[in-house]
Amino acid sequence: MQAELKAIVAEVQEKATGIHSRAEFEAYKATVVGPKGSLTEIMKGMGAIPKEDKPAMGKLINEAKTAVQAVFDTVLERLETAELAARLGPAIDPSLPAPDLPRGTLHPIAQVREEMVALFRRIGFSVAEATEVETEHYCFDALNIPADHPARDMQDSYYLPEALKVGNVSQLADEKYLLRTHTSTVQIRTMLAEQPPIRIVAPGRCFRRDTPDATHSANFHQIEGLYVDRDVTLLDLKATLDHFVKTIFGPKAKTRLRPSFFPFTEPSFEMDFYSPDLGKLSNKWLEIMGCGMVDPEVFKAVGIDPELYTGYAFGMGIERIAMILQGVDDIRYYYQNDVRFLRQFA
Ligand code: PHE
Repeated sequence: MQAELKAIVAEVQEKATGIHSRAEFEAYKATVVGPKGSLTEIMKGMGAIPKEDKPAMGKLINEAKTAVQAVFDTVLERLETAELAARLGPAIDPSLPAPDLPRGTLHPIAQVREEMVALFRRIGFSVAEATEVETEHYCFDALNIPADHPARDMQDSYYLPEALKVGNVSQLADEKYLLRTHTSTVQIRTMLAEQPPIRIVAPGRCFRRDTPDATHSANFHQIEGLYVDRDVTLLDLKATLDHFVKTIFGPKAKTRLRPSFFPFTEPSFEMDFYSPDLGKLSNKWLEIMGCGMVDPEVFKAVGIDPELYTGYAFGMGIERIAMILQGVDDIRYYYQNDVRFLRQFA
C-alpha cells in the first residue's frame, strides 16, 4: 500500500504540469480524490487493515493527501494567474514610454524655417517677431508704399472690420487694420524699437487674397532679413545671400541679382539662383527673393539718419524654398495635414 501511495503522489506531481485549463484540472482531480479516485479507493481499503497497522497507515495516507493537495493548490494558483493575465491583457509597466505611439515631427515648412533661421543666427542675425494683425501704417506707409499700390486694395489684402480691431488700437484709432501681407512690417517695428546696428531675420506668417493654386496660398510664410549699420553695402547683401544659397542648396549653387523694384529698397533686386543638383529643377535660374538697399525714405519714417546709416533688406517665401528643397510641386499639400504627406519629412 505504501508503494501505491508513493506511485499516486508521483503521478499527480508529473501530470500536474500538463494541466492547462480548469476543466482538465477538475477531471484529473476526480480521478485521484473523487468518489472513485485512486486515493479514495485506498482510503476505502483501510477497513481491511489490521488494527495495529491502522495508525501507521493512516499517517501515510494523510501525508499522501497533503502532498496531493499541495500539488493541486499550485496548479489552481497557476491556472488562476493565467486566467487573470488573459483577462487583463499584456502586463503594463507605467514607467516605460508608451509603445507604438507614432512621434510627431516638425511640419516641413517649420523644418525649412528652422534651417534658415539657424543659418542666419550663425552669421550674427537674431530673430525678431511682430504681430500678424497690422495697421496700414506698418504694412505700407512706413515702407514707402504709396496709397495707390495694389496691395492696399481691399481686393488684395485682408482688412479687418472695425469691430475686430485688436491689440494696440488706442495709439492709432483711425488706422485701418489688416493681416500683414509681408514680413517687411517687422523691419519697421524693429527699427522703431532698436538703434543700429540691427541685424535680424523675421520668419512669420503672411496673408494675401490669392486664389489658391499650385503656387499660391492665401496664408503663407516669409522670412525677412534686415541689416542696418554704418557702411553696409550691396556687397554685404550679395555675400550674405550667396552664403545663404550655398548653405541651403549646396556649394555648386550660383546666384544673380536682377534689377527690380520695391518701394522700400533702392536699388532693388530679385535674386535668382541655379544649381546643378536639383533634379528636375537643375540648371534653371529660379527666382527666390526680393532684396535691396533700405530706401532712405524708410529710414526717415523710423527716425534713423540716412546720412549716417545704410542697410540692406531681403524677403522670401519659405514655401518657395521648401518646395524647391523638398521637391513638392503643389503648395496646397503643406496645408492639408495629410499624414501620408507629412510623414515623408519625418
Ligand atoms: N516684402 C517683399 C515682398 O513681400 C519682399 C522684400 C523684402 C523685398 C525686403 C525687398 C526687401 O514681396
